[in-house]
Amino acid sequence: MTPTLNRRSFLGNTTLLGAGLAASSVFAVNLPAITKKVKVGLIGCGGRGNGALADFIAACKILGIEVEVTATADAFKDKAEAAGKKYAVAAERCFGGFDSYQKVIATDCDYVLMATPPAFRPVQFAAAVEAGKHCFIEKPIAVDPAGARSVIATGEKAKAKGLAVVAGTQRRHMASYLSNKALIDAGAIGPIKGGVVQWNGTVPWTKRRNEGESDASYLARNWLNFTEMSGDHIVEQHVHNLDVAIWFLGRLPVTAIGFGGRARRQTGNMFDFFSVDYDFGDDVHIHSQCRQITGTYGRVGELFTGTEGVCYGGGKLKGKEISVPEIKLDSDNGMIQEHVDLIRGVMTGKPLNDAKSIAESTLVAIMGRISAYTGEIVRWGDLAENEKSPFYNQVCAPAAIDFEKGDVKAPEEVPPVPGKA
Ligand SMILES: NC(=O)c1ccc[n+]([C@@H]2O[C@H](COP(=O)([O-])OP(=O)(O)OC[C@H]3O[C@@H](n4cnc5c(N)ncnc54)[C@H](O)[C@@H]3O)[C@@H](O)[C@H]2O)c1
Repeated sequence: MTPTLNRRSFLGNTTLLGAGLAASSVFAVNLPAITKKVKVGLIGCGGRGNGALADFIAACKILGIEVEVTATADAFKDKAEAAGKKYAVAAERCFGGFDSYQKVIATDCDYVLMATPPAFRPVQFAAAVEAGKHCFIEKPIAVDPAGARSVIATGEKAKAKGLAVVAGTQRRHMASYLSNKALIDAGAIGPIKGGVVQWNGTVPWTKRRNEGESDASYLARNWLNFTEMSGDHIVEQHVHNLDVAIWFLGRLPVTAIGFGGRARRQTGNMFDFFSVDYDFGDDVHIHSQCRQITGTYGRVGELFTGTEGVCYGGGKLKGKEISVPEIKLDSDNGMIQEHVDLIRGVMTGKPLNDAKSIAESTLVAIMGRISAYTGEIVRWGDLAENEKSPFYNQVCAPAAIDFEKGDVKAPEEVPPVPGKA
């Protein structure tokens, strides 16, 4: 019997995807027998790239299909080789350089995993879709409004071609978050009236410039500390929590008014902290707070207050007694489950397409950053629709194309000054 959303619960190895993805999709585990093997290529062989490839392979194991890694790419050839070596990828298929993504895409892979710094995602994603590949795109997917809008357009192209696009927003693939989203949609806490989303932690890492190192190499290595490469940490890291707010509320903010500053960061040009008031309309405000200062109080999570209860992201929910179907996923690990959902969607002829939702979440994070950097109020329309807005055409430089042309000048390592930026 096929389980439906209306049943009290269902057991067995089934997947229910969240409302933000495809609320009506409940897939049986048994896949069409035609898919026995998939081929995958990796672009960006750092921590997450290696992790994403391992997760993709774990997903294939869950689905009972073979996997072949066709090629790897990284700005630095030795990193591509180290990643490829783990999966017996021939050395000549481990590519180095800023155009190496093109060489991976040119192989006969069905899937491409992209885990380079966010500044490169729009160009690499467009090339992968052009070549007809199913895509896993790590979050965030851009650093500036034009980049994020281009990802929405590329996502539409992918849809037209029947290609799958899954973003690295693992919370959308976790039973805890999916259950709470279903409960909220069923009215368990009443309409959401406000909330707070936080990523308060440490500086993940910094890298110093080596003697004689080129600007391109330095930026590619120390990307996490430059706005032009990462989007700043409100975009690079806190996008996860903003994504949950947008998903749970089911709508986008109208305005952002934020501030931030820098006291401790040692390299690059980013802020240490941001505090942004997002107005979602109807008198609903979400406070977004993110800080990267080592040695300070840390909290990562989300809280939503409704008229009849509260919900802590994927954690505790206090509200009305409401039953929703039990959600049983293939993996307790959202980072593996997202690959299961990617592959299963393709195999069952229902490819997922996250391009728009992750591009919107990225744009919302960019709204907050621009507001904090400039001291101005930033409207959603300023980034998404109003071509006359000074923010609409803001671009970060150097851009991906400059790296390919070998024309890279590193930005000054000073943060923006609100009121002057
Ligand atoms: N979903 C999550 O929870 C999660 C966790 C960590 C990182 N991420 C995201 O994954 C991405 C990568 O992060 P990371 O932690 O692996 O960083 P990393 O620095 O460990 O890896 C990035 C790799 O990309 C390479 N690179 C840089 N520019 C390149 C280019 N133009 N072409 C090819 N390779 C290039 C670097 O040499 C490096 O090996 C980022 O977007 C980050 O936000 C997501």
